[in-house]
Amino acid sequence: MDRRNFISLVGGGVVMAAGLSGCEKAPDATTAWVSPGSSERDVRRYALAHAILAPNPHNRQPWLARLDGTDAVTLFIDRSRLLPATDPFSRQIVVGCGAFLELLAIAAGAKGYTATVTPFPDGQPAEALDERPFARVAFAPGGTLDPLFRHILRRRTTREPYDVKRAIPAADLAAVQAAAGAGMRTGSTTGGEALAELKVLTREAYEREVDTPAANRETIDLMRIGDKQIAEHRDGLFLRGPAIEAMHAVGILTPENLAKPGTTAFKQARDFARPLCEATGAFVWLVSPGNDRTQQMAAGRAYARMALEAAARDIAIQPMSQALQEYPQMAALFARMDALVGVRAGERLQMLVRAGYARDLPPAPRKGLDDLFRSA
Ligand SMILES: Cc1cc2nc3c(=O)[nH]c(=O)nc-3n(C[C@H](O)[C@H](O)[C@H](O)COP(=O)(O)O)c2cc1C
Repeated sequence: MDRRNFISLVGGGVVMAAGLSGCEKAPDATTAWVSPGSSERDVRRYALAHAILAPNPHNRQPWLARLDGTDAVTLFIDRSRLLPATDPFSRQIVVGCGAFLELLAIAAGAKGYTATVTPFPDGQPAEALDERPFARVAFAPGGTLDPLFRHILRRRTTREPYDVKRAIPAADLAAVQAAAGAGMRTGSTTGGEALAELKVLTREAYEREVDTPAANRETIDLMRIGDKQIAEHRDGLFLRGPAIEAMHAVGILTPENLAKPGTTAFKQARDFARPLCEATGAFVWLVSPGNDRTQQMAAGRAYARMALEAAARDIAIQPMSQALQEYPQMAALFARMDALVGVRAGERLQMLVRAGYARDLPPAPRKGLDDLFRSA
């Protein structure tokens, strides 16, 4: 297996590997994306069936829901699904909850309902999340169709090299930024020194994460290798394709090797971001005026809208979050990132994404609607 092949595999590329036959077909982990909620008569369940398609860190889907009475939903964070190593204050988890709420509200609108969201109705947690709900949502007739609704099913996180010969028109980039709405500050770069420096910095931060054993272990523990594991879990990050299955079967690509410096698996995983960062012609970012829980949640709602607007314009995006993370080994890169995108005192850089054009990809796995009601 040569190096370039492995990288394209880890990147999710489709590379045919000979000699793998007789594999059982695993059940599809993406059925949640097919006509979500179409059989639901309760608008809350219809809206929740869309909300679970929200972008969220490491695809942890840390959401639990309780239907209250006939017109309300209370939402909780499943604290067994946090990311303590890479997201020690659960900032990204809360951003993902914000994205969930935005899709919930947009889908309610498509059914002619308003979804009035009260974030952290019993108060917002400080450094550590607790058992209090992250939102209460009241549904009432009267909503309108948001044009972003029809892009919910097309939105993806696209971990592919982008076509750097094709620049994003300034008006499209401006529209993606404007989708964040009032209260957030956005920025972007499409060239010059800032672009070059961000390409280097995002790659270095990715490598730093792989070189930090606890952070790397967290990602490895959530790496679903091959269709069987993907179908079993329907969450986390994934590697798939015939060659992945083959490398897994012969013991090259295993969690143990991914954690062991010096192995082919470790080296290639560490190199994963290099071709992606290189093939990037634009970065876009989102900055909130502060960083309390409500602002993190608002940032998630804004990010969901930006991602849907990007999908509407066939612009592929991928968050590159490593340099935004709060663990000590990342501190120097974090400071460089803040300086590069011009974060001001009190502000918080919440999301930084690469943006460009790439081929269409299938959707990421999702658990089902009923998993939301596990133990709320
Ligand atoms: C706060 C946040 C941080 C994220 N950081 C990264 C990241 O660093 N790299 C990446 O490839 N995807 C990142 N993602 C995207 C998620 O991994 C992705 O949303 C999830 O795996 C589900 O896939 P989907 O967006 O294609 O539905 C992030 C998403 C959120 C909301």
